[in-house]
Amino acid sequence: MYAVTTKPPARGDAARRAANLAEFEQHARRILPPALFHYVAGASEDGAVHERNLRAFRERAFVPNVLVDVSGRSTATSLFGKDYAAPFGIAPMGFSRMIARDGDITLARAAEAAGVPFILSGASLTAMEAVQKAAPSSWFQAYLPGEDDRINGLVDRVAAAGFGTLVLTADTAVHPLHERAARHGFVSPVRKGDLRLAWQGASHPRWLWQVLLSDGMAGLGYRFENMDASAGPPVLSSTLVRDIGRRDAFSWRHVELVRKRWTGKLLIKGIMSAADAAAAEKAGVDGVIISNHGGRQIDCSIAALDALCRITDRGLAIPVLYDGGVRRGSDVLKALKAGADFVFVGRPMLLAAAAGGTRGVAHAIDLLTREVSMNMALLGINSPGEIGNVEMIRE
Ligand SMILES: Cc1cc2nc3c(=O)[nH]c(=O)nc-3n(C[C@H](O)[C@H](O)[C@H](O)COP(=O)(O)O)c2cc1C
Repeated sequence: MYAVTTKPPARGDAARRAANLAEFEQHARRILPPALFHYVAGASEDGAVHERNLRAFRERAFVPNVLVDVSGRSTATSLFGKDYAAPFGIAPMGFSRMIARDGDITLARAAEAAGVPFILSGASLTAMEAVQKAAPSSWFQAYLPGEDDRINGLVDRVAAAGFGTLVLTADTAVHPLHERAARHGFVSPVRKGDLRLAWQGASHPRWLWQVLLSDGMAGLGYRFENMDASAGPPVLSSTLVRDIGRRDAFSWRHVELVRKRWTGKLLIKGIMSAADAAAAEKAGVDGVIISNHGGRQIDCSIAALDALCRITDRGLAIPVLYDGGVRRGSDVLKALKAGADFVFVGRPMLLAAAAGGTRGVAHAIDLLTREVSMNMALLGINSPGEIGNVEMIRE
């Protein structure tokens, strides 16, 4: 059976009442200031790609097989030579420390305890060294500028911190329009003295005390810690503009530069076309993550699941990972059936952290693992890899 190593949340914990991943949203909505809730739950422009990601799963259905002995089934899956308890992990999410108390470490510890991977965001507010120490099997995701010196400095720091897997996010040449979040007051960097945000914080006391003002008001001094070889600008700032560097100049040449310098596993996240997947393989990366950033960047692309099908149809020799719109254990299995070797989940995990801290995330991982196991039984398979034997149609 599946392995669940973490304790369920305590009685009375809001997150405990979530019966599935989607329900963490309503619990988090009560706790978070609207600017932050809509930043996490929202998407870019009209939210068309996010909706397409979710719809792509609803449009696909399995043809189940019955009367198979599934009593010995296991959700365990190996990837890059490591065994995980389930075929999914937690996607990188920036700003998590503003959303949940010790957000990055909370997500990392819950994943580590449950035996699934966690990817630390390059836009995180906790020094990568502290996260690696708290959860040594975490992966690191970098946002790289197209500037060789800065790339080399960051790659060396990630290696010195002890990370074994580096993910380069490739779909963020520019900042998108997050109109929904902006309408609710979200700006980055946050301006000190922003009265609207101050009121939002004051009217959400649990978030205010547990996140912003915890540890002697440490939240007021959070910085973008992991953009460069040393800590970057503070989040709360009246003058500083977030220095992301020349991200629009980042190109395949820089991937080759990283490949020469980084000796660990190297992945590219944000691949959507078969041509780019082939180029990544040629550049010597160890895997690709098919993703449209959960509909948070481009808002006129195909669904990530459709991209996955197109890419795996062509056949790649390296592992193909997936994220975007996974909300059910059956979605995990649909992505595996579409050719993914492993799947990542974004928003619901961060909202679970906001609603219930480490135990909320443990509960979310447990719910999803149970759903994968239950659907495996109902489809007549004993391991996630056997999903290849089950027929899936598009309705
Ligand atoms: C609040 C938030 C912050 C994110 N920050 C990053 C980031 O720093 N780096 C990155 O590669 N992707 C980032 N993403 C995208 C996720 O890694 C992932 O691609 C996406 O959330 C998957 O879609 P889902 O939320 O529907 O599961 C972020 C997503 C969210 C919701």
